[in-house]
Amino acid sequence: MKTYNYFELKFAFKGDLEVLTHYLFSQGASGVEEDLDFFQKPGCPEVELQPHNQRQVKAYFYEKPLLADLSQFVSSYELKEKKSEDWTLEFKKSWPPIELGEGYWVVPSWETSPVESTKTLSIDPGMAFGTGTHETTQIMCQFLLENKKLLDSDKKVLDVGTGSGVLSILAYRLGAGELAATELDEQSQRVAQENFQRNNVPVQFLNSDLSSQTEGYDVVLANILEFVLLDLQPDLLRLCKSDLFVSGILKENLESFKNKFLNPKMNVLQEIKRGEWVGLWIRV
Ligand SMILES: C[S@@+](CC[C@H](N)C(=O)[O-])C[C@H]1O[C@@H](n2cnc3c(N)ncnc32)[C@H](O)[C@@H]1O
Repeated sequence: MKTYNYFELKFAFKGDLEVLTHYLFSQGASGVEEDLDFFQKPGCPEVELQPHNQRQVKAYFYEKPLLADLSQFVSSYELKEKKSEDWTLEFKKSWPPIELGEGYWVVPSWETSPVESTKTLSIDPGMAFGTGTHETTQIMCQFLLENKKLLDSDKKVLDVGTGSGVLSILAYRLGAGELAATELDEQSQRVAQENFQRNNVPVQFLNSDLSSQTEGYDVVLANILEFVLLDLQPDLLRLCKSDLFVSGILKENLESFKNKFLNPKMNVLQEIKRGEWVGLWIRV
């Protein structure tokens, strides 16, 4: 692996992050992030954010920054020189195994699973979306766990925008017989393929242009941003024979989304809300 040195600036902060971020970029920062710690109460599938009295902020620089005016914003800070490998290590520490519910766990590929392999989803997310911590993914996992009767071995499932592959792997663990997935992003396609192999889950990768697909699927999963769901609606409807699960809709847009997405033949059977997000189970 190619390594390089960089500088990490770390401090706690109360106040308007936007002004501070602007200042850090003006000092040459190549990235600014807020440290968000996830935690899970034992036996509870909900993953929550650790409350912070103060925001823990990190900024990254390729060159040592001068930071002349930083004291206007914070009383103390830490600046360290690091190697690129450290970032990988820190990322690994910040991502614990997550219980999805009913004893199923998403476990980072470098950790030992706390449960047997049939209940383990071993994931290396790389740059792909889907470590199980995001509320939109949790909504989809809850739909699958609560409706696993839909996932018999004779059922075909399509996972649109598979990201790290987490939903396909869960659908397979819950009994789905045949799986197909699409993903627009090339890096995520590679990550998902690796995760499918790591979990011994047979998934057929389809061209992400759904208009070129003709085969029907009993269950279609799509956790994608609203505007993409609206764009894909005609193809999702055409390819879905029975149960369509969508997530990634902001609560405040739910009614307008439904008005645009649903037609009179579609029935919403279940709505799940988590944080600011909503998911829908639609019988088409
Ligand atoms: C919110 S992530 C969901 C990932 C994963 N399915 C999960 O639930 O955690 C949405 C994914 O859809 C992909 N995507 C966006 N538009 C797409 C499209 N038109 N076709 C296929 N994938 C798409 C993105 O690259 C991203 O990986």
